[in-house]
Amino acid sequence: MNIIKTILVIAIFHLPQVMAQDASRDFLGEINDSDHPDGYREYVELGCWQCHGFQGQGGRAAKLVDPLMPYDVFAMQVRKPRNIMPVYSPNVLSDARLKKIYSYLQNIPESPDPDDIPLLSGD
Ligand code: HEC
Repeated sequence: MNIIKTILVIAIFHLPQVMAQDASRDFLGEINDSDHPDGYREYVELGCWQCHGFQGQGGRAAKLVDPLMPYDVFAMQVRKPRNIMPVYSPNVLSDARLKKIYSYLQNIPESPDPDDIPLLSGD
């Protein structure tokens, strides 16, 4: 009986992780590398999108762009998160891949000024 309970608990704790991996796989299936700047694949594969959104716009966690922090500060947060963000060690995410992620975020265009969006003008 205890073994069954243990298996159930393990299964329940791992379910969100497995589902997230499946979601990454689905999105990756749609990525055509030539359509995306360098680093988008890494950003999706490493799961940053799950908390920071596909465009770094934020969601469950902070937005990463507009403005993007300097690389050294960015890398420090990823290697030694200051609070609850998961740690990404160099074994999981090499410096080269981290730089690609940074360059993906650098290439995201700035958000337009709300005054330039006709739908928001109220006319
Ligand atoms: C499970 C959710 C989660 C994932 C996945 C995640 N982060 Fe975070 N991130 C957070 C949270 C929460 C914070 C707030 C600070 C903290 O908890 O350390 C944060 C903060 C940050 C910050 C600092 C933002 C600021 O304005 O202070 C950066 C940069 C960052 N994350 C980059 C990344 C990158 C790059 C990845 C993928 C390699 C990633 N994060 C994956 C949750 C996540």
